[in-house]
Formats: sequence, C-alpha cells, structure tokens
Amino acid sequence: MTVPTYQIGDKTFRLLIKNDVLKQKAKELAERINQEYKDKNPILLPILTGSFMFFADVLPHLTIPYEINFVKVSSYGMRMTSSAAPRALMGLLLHLENRHVIVVEDIVDSGKTYQFLSNKLKEMKVQSYLYTALLVKKENVSDEIAIDWMGFDIGKAFVVGYGMDYQEKGRHLKDIYQLV
Ligand code: IMP
Repeated sequence: MTVPTYQIGDKTFRLLIKNDVLKQKAKELAERINQEYKDKNPILLPILTGSFMFFADVLPHLTIPYEINFVKVSSYGMRMTSSAAPRALMGLLLHLENRHVIVVEDIVDSGKTYQFLSNKLKEMKVQSYLYTALLVKKENVSDEIAIDWMGFDIGKAFVVGYGMDYQEKGRHLKDIYQLV
C-alpha cells in the first residue's frame, strides 16, 4: 500500500496521523477537561495559528462552562531551520489572575514557547494552568519541560496539516503529514 504524500515546493511530506485518530485525541482531551474543571470555569488559551483545527475538534465535546481567549506568541526567525525565541504574547484580553487556565498548543518543538508562556502565566498569578499540546517532539525537548497533557510524541519530525504549516502552506490538510 502506498502512503499518501503532499508536496509543498520541493518538499515532500508523507501521511503520519489520520484525521479520525486526531479527532479521537481531541475528544480525550475534552473528557479530561470535563472531569477536572467542572466547577472551575476555566479560561481556554488556544495558541494561534496552528492549534485552530485541533481546538475546533475539542470544543464540541466540552460539557462545562468555560471562557476563551485566543492568543498568539510572536517570535523572530524562520521555522524548520531554527527555533526562534518567543518575544511577545499578543491578544490577551481576559484577566488571568486567580483563574484556572488551559493552554492548547499545536506542537511543542524546542519548548521555548512552553517556557515563555509558563513564565508569563506564573507572573500573572494564575491559580493553576494545564499545558496541553497535540504533538510533542520528545527528542528535542529537555526533561524540565513538563507538558501536562500530550496527544502524540513525534520524535523530531517536521509536520504540516491539521492547522500546522510550512511557510503558511498545508494548514488546510485534514491529516498530519511528516517531512520526508
Ligand atoms: P517551540 O517554541 O520551539 O516549542 O515551537 C513551538 C511552535 O513552533 C508551535 O506552536 C508551532 O507553531 C511551531 N512549530 C514547531 N514545530 C513545527 C512543525 O513541525 N510544523 C509546524 N509548526 C511547528
């Protein structure tokens, strides 16, 4: 059986995780949130842009009240060649002090975004935070990076699809593809 591929410029990506498996993970995360945040009215903090499709699959399964604030973490530099240091948190409108916050990231690569956001949340004196990521590149992150909930460990693969891009291409794909 041939594995489906997707081409972006001279880069070939091949199918890694199918949409039904991704949707199932999204449901699992929602179930955990339903159990642990029943009376906590958490603030969901999806990180744009990459998490939008995963997040959209989580939401219909949530049965508890919540608030949402989409945020963006800006950085310099180009993906795939190096991991740029995050510089600013953009779009935060809600007050997080004393609140239970749930971060939803698409993918943890070097863990710099994780470290940047974790520090910010502590500075803002949140009551608690749960750091969730659909994908983690375990081969890249150091041991002190403690992701609270992870969908899949993808080693060190570079991926596109299901919201994630290579130079803004490939976000629309329903499945996740890995760079060959
Ligand atoms: P980190 O700060 O190095 O952990 O990078 C995290 C961010 O980089 C993610 O939220 C993604 O937006 C982006 N990123 C990291 N790896 C990939 C990848 O393989 N494909 C697409 N985007 C990625």
